[in-house]
Amino acid sequence: MFPRGRKILLGVSGGISAYKSCDLLRRLQDHGFVVDVVPTQASLNFVGKSTWEALSGKKVATDLWQDVEKVPHISMAKENDLIVIAPTTADLLAKLASGRADDLLTNIVLASIAPKVLVPAMHTEMWLNPATVENVQTLRNRGFIVVEPDEGRMTGRDTGVGRYPESSKIIDAVNNALAVASDLVGKKVLITAGGTREPIDPVRFIGNRSSGRQGFALAMAAASRGAQVHLVAANTDLPNIEGITMTSVETAEQMLAVLDLEFPHCDALIMSAAVADARVADYSDSKIGKERLSTLSLVRNPDILKSLSSVKKPGQILIGFAAETESDVKALKDSATEKIVSKNLDIIYVNNVSGGAIFGSESTRGLIVDKDRNVIEVPEISKDTLSDILLDQLVSKLG
Ligand code: C5P
Repeated sequence: MFPRGRKILLGVSGGISAYKSCDLLRRLQDHGFVVDVVPTQASLNFVGKSTWEALSGKKVATDLWQDVEKVPHISMAKENDLIVIAPTTADLLAKLASGRADDLLTNIVLASIAPKVLVPAMHTEMWLNPATVENVQTLRNRGFIVVEPDEGRMTGRDTGVGRYPESSKIIDAVNNALAVASDLVGKKVLITAGGTREPIDPVRFIGNRSSGRQGFALAMAAASRGAQVHLVAANTDLPNIEGITMTSVETAEQMLAVLDLEFPHCDALIMSAAVADARVADYSDSKIGKERLSTLSLVRNPDILKSLSSVKKPGQILIGFAAETESDVKALKDSATEKIVSKNLDIIYVNNVSGGAIFGSESTRGLIVDKDRNVIEVPEISKDTLSDILLDQLVSKLG
């Protein structure tokens, strides 16, 4: 299974407002959610399976008796951080209140310990029927979040309470249930990870020890906060992240070529990749014999950050990383400040990698310095935690 940002399951039951869940699915994706759709058989009368497959970009299961050997109701119950069922019909409310499980969706609900958000939509008389009122109360008592339906025009000519609410109201309920920040919704964040390799001949290269863990952690954290993330990864062994666009590159020049295209469209660039400072002047198409390997002639690689910061538009934020082998805090601060100025950055994270520290590790320590010379000393913390601290800084700079 791929690692992922926020993953949720959208259940759809058989009410006419099922078509509105197509928009809900899109808006959930805009908020960085990776969504699996599970429609009930009845709902397929309103919106077909192909629509859900096309919109979600995933295979859609509707049947408990399909792929039985994979026990799909249990895996789907475990995989998702939240279940939202929109619309929830009166019949489904009754089934859930009595704990029934006679199809794929109700089996998943019964097997899941994730938060559950129900979005009832039905005619006013059905919503106000004492049986429905009691079922809603039972479900709320058991911890289900039941979103109040809106009031207004029904399917026919009548009006009243029972309408399917705006997607934004449902997404607020989802975000509240997950208690997660969605402060990067609508932002495009470009992130580089790993270390570039500069080939010497078909066998050898100049490389560095960067594993890509920090860049991948940043990509996951940014996606979890709703950003649209493009990850440019250089020579990492890490698996793709579901819901994130990823481009693989090998050399500094290839990385620059991708970023030249992507940078104008992003709100922020986080350059956590370790870029080789130089490449060989003359690449050899055939393996260089040992006897000719006493010296290598090098040429400097372009400084990617410098070249992009010279075309930076107002409002775009640039975050750099620096790996130093200096442990003195004052020296680290000075080198961070010097790089902020020379590369025209908004923020830099500088860490002390001496003695093999940090590269490839789960944890990191260092200093965050911004262009107003504010300094945050970061004690030994996980790369995930550092990602959230840096993204908090990014959000405050994006304004
Ligand atoms: O100058 P130094 O290599 O320490 O700066 C590190 C920062 O600059 C990192 O964010 C790195 O990704 C970026 N860099 C770059 N192009 C280079 C070298 C470093 O963009 N050729």
